[in-house]
Amino acid sequence: MQPTPQTQFEDITKELYTKNVDLVNANKTLELIQKLYDIMISSYSLNDVSQRSIETITQSLGFSDGIVVLETSPSAPLSMVAITQTEINKTIMEACNIHVSEMKFDMNNSENLLVKVFSTHMSESSHDIWRVWTPYVKQDDLSGINTALGTQNILVYPIILGDKVLGCFALTMARGEQKLTEFEANTLTRLTTVFGLAIDRVKTNLELQETEKRELEKAKELLRLKDEFVFIATHDLRAPVTAISGFVDIISDKSATFQPDIQEDFNAIKQSSERLKQLINDLLEVARSESGTIQVVTEDVNLVEIVDLVKKQQEPFANTFGVTVTTAMDQSHATVKADKAKLTEVVENLISNGIKYNHSGGTLNVSSVEKDGFLEVSFADTGFGIPEDKKAQVFQKFFRAHQTGTENINGTGLGLFVVRMLLEKMGGTISFVSEENKGTTFTFRLPTA
Ligand SMILES: Nc1ncnc2c1ncn2[C@@H]1O[C@H](COP(=O)(O)OP(=O)(O)OP(=O)(O)O)[C@@H](O)[C@H]1O
Ligand SMILES: [Mg+2]
Repeated sequence: MQPTPQTQFEDITKELYTKNVDLVNANKTLELIQKLYDIMISSYSLNDVSQRSIETITQSLGFSDGIVVLETSPSAPLSMVAITQTEINKTIMEACNIHVSEMKFDMNNSENLLVKVFSTHMSESSHDIWRVWTPYVKQDDLSGINTALGTQNILVYPIILGDKVLGCFALTMARGEQKLTEFEANTLTRLTTVFGLAIDRVKTNLELQETEKRELEKAKELLRLKDEFVFIATHDLRAPVTAISGFVDIISDKSATFQPDIQEDFNAIKQSSERLKQLINDLLEVARSESGTIQVVTEDVNLVEIVDLVKKQQEPFANTFGVTVTTAMDQSHATVKADKAKLTEVVENLISNGIKYNHSGGTLNVSSVEKDGFLEVSFADTGFGIPEDKKAQVFQKFFRAHQTGTENINGTGLGLFVVRMLLEKMGGTISFVSEENKGTTFTFRLPTA
């Protein structure tokens, strides 16, 4: 029998209606997923994301209550991380007599539905909500709530990501005999993965933070060990080096009587011991500054005396480079507030630079002048100068300019770093002007006594 236009029309209307319902439902699912997505990207707290997600799911799908349990670390019992704040849950929690955050469900508890769903990866339902709360409450204690809720009242779903189960969520229905619609059942199945994504994101972030923290601790420990090593090594080297330079000084007094070839060897020994002493002192200062144990004790120090002493000490060194060191110190303003040993290190470093980065036949002039309560001390050389593009880096640790002519000059690149650090510790400053192939003038300022 041919369908009449009337029945054809009715069929189309029915079909349109069904399609429309499907569309509305699909839209609802999408909306819910969007809400969960918003929650997921707004927080990195496991409890916060779980709590807001379960509240959104219960409200959007018309459930009365919900809870979330998660495996917080591999093979640990399931922990309760979220629970909707409703009258039913409050009554249950009172009966359980334990704080939510302390609730853990052991994997051996086969009666518990959460544990079962977690192990089997399959959703479950029950009329007895005690199946979710065992072992924290007796079965009879919840019978009143069971009756009030009606049958088929608890649904438990796994929270899944790929082939991993991260935990479960449970929803309570307070709708008497009524069953889940096909749409609700489908939506809930889909939510298991969305929920999984949200939880996984938070967990990955937490793990990342933990790893970062561990790496940082490791790096800090390595740095500390390195500092300690440098400190101990240089400190232990200092005693023998001081002894050597002490003997060198004693012999030095008699050096005028040496044969010329022995005199030359002796000068080489003297320079090397000076260099070693300076390097050890610099390394010690760096180690101290990094460990924060540097100490300066300021007193009235005669700067003219220090400059004269260092000039005399470095004479053989200056001779090797063919450099003449001259001084023009302000005799009436000779004392500054400083740490004597540290100020000597500063002067040693600046004079040795002025000598070694100089041309043969060049000069280094050390002069001072008082200005506004400060003594300005300048070290002006006629040497290589510092290239324009290297000027910003000369005070950095281990920096060396490596320009033509200075390739064979020994150095570690610590001198100026230490000089600036020590001066700043003593309330001073340092600056320089330099022109390539003309020369460099370093000037430091320290408060006068
Ligand atoms: N008077 C100067 N003239 C030209 N260049 C200089 C002068 N003083 C420093 N420099 C440049 O700055 C760099 C850093 O100087 P710094 O004193 O810190 O290290 P260094 O002399 O190389 O080694 P160290 O002092 O540890 O023995 C030097 O390598 C050099 O290139
Ligand atoms: Mg130097």
